[in-house]
Amino acid sequence: MRSLSLAVGVSLLQLACAFPAPPWPNTTAVGDAKAGPADLNDLAKKAGKMYFGTAVDNPQLDDKQYTDIAFNKAVFGQVTPANGQKYMYTERSRGTYSFVEGDAVVDKATAAGQLLRCHALLWYQQLPNWLTTGNFDNATLITIVQEHITAEVQHYKGKCYAWDVVNEALNEDGTMRKNVFLDTIGPSYIPIAFAAAAAADPDVKLYYNDYNIENPGAKSTGAANIVKDLQARKIKVDGVGMQAHFIAGSSPSYDSQLQNMKNFIALGVEVAYTELDVRITLPNSAEKTQQQATDYANAVKACVVTEKCVGITVWDFWDPASWVPSTFKGTGDATLFSAGFEAKPAVASIAQVLQGTT
Ligand code: XIL
Repeated sequence: MRSLSLAVGVSLLQLACAFPAPPWPNTTAVGDAKAGPADLNDLAKKAGKMYFGTAVDNPQLDDKQYTDIAFNKAVFGQVTPANGQKYMYTERSRGTYSFVEGDAVVDKATAAGQLLRCHALLWYQQLPNWLTTGNFDNATLITIVQEHITAEVQHYKGKCYAWDVVNEALNEDGTMRKNVFLDTIGPSYIPIAFAAAAAADPDVKLYYNDYNIENPGAKSTGAANIVKDLQARKIKVDGVGMQAHFIAGSSPSYDSQLQNMKNFIALGVEVAYTELDVRITLPNSAEKTQQQATDYANAVKACVVTEKCVGITVWDFWDPASWVPSTFKGTGDATLFSAGFEAKPAVASIAQVLQGTT
């Protein structure tokens, strides 16, 4: 790409601005014949996991360099549509469903033989305006939620390994987060959602998914309480998804991640890392990049040694596609591959963990 740009007369300075040199030693890129260490899914499966996966977002589907990696089953055995299955895209007006954005990712992943984690049926963000401003009464909003979940789960029936049924329902102290569903329906919106999903596809795994539930604490206890409540009501719940949006140098310790997973698994559910990324406070440095590699590797290792941790999903694998810079100002470089698709040290560190060499 660089030599091609040079051929059309782009100056070195312009190139440097577009793709600044990464602050880590050059490593083997995916697509290279010697790309073995980046075949993360193959290695994860050998380590006994079901998959190593990634979120994939729609704008990148036109980028061949991106899709060659995203839909390469040796690298990623599982894909999560980053946005396309969310409420605002799937039910833009009440009762009118469109699965175009989700299907664009799902179809490519299915063709590549990859598993799908489907995401997310109920979340307080990325909701359509008609829903948030509709002032619906309790009974009407219950019907709306049930119809939405039924339509979407039926559409993807047989295609998803798992659904994130309810996403981010908790405050940091483990209490229920205020949102339109809690305000109108009350806490029973969660069992209502899981029951609707179970009825629409009895075979798909149903997950509760949240962030800051990767180490023991009030929020993890809140997530455990959601699982217990569903179980007490005899409503199907199969897993807890730990998003794992980490900060290099401030990620939960390996030991606390292990203990945390044990607590969930003791309830009889499986667990997964569902949105792993490790953001860096800019400017980046070789030390920070190394710390990031350690943090990625610790999370992967904690999952590898925990039998009922089924797999790890990174929240996109390419820095320009990451949600981090626009969401957490002053941070970035959170994914496994730089803008120029160079593999960062985290890739080698994860591969080593998966190969059992660390
Ligand atoms: C993010 C997407 O990556 C962004 O493109 C979008 O603008 C906002 O949502 N937790 C989740 C994900 O469960 O759905 C979020 O994805 C990131 C945080």
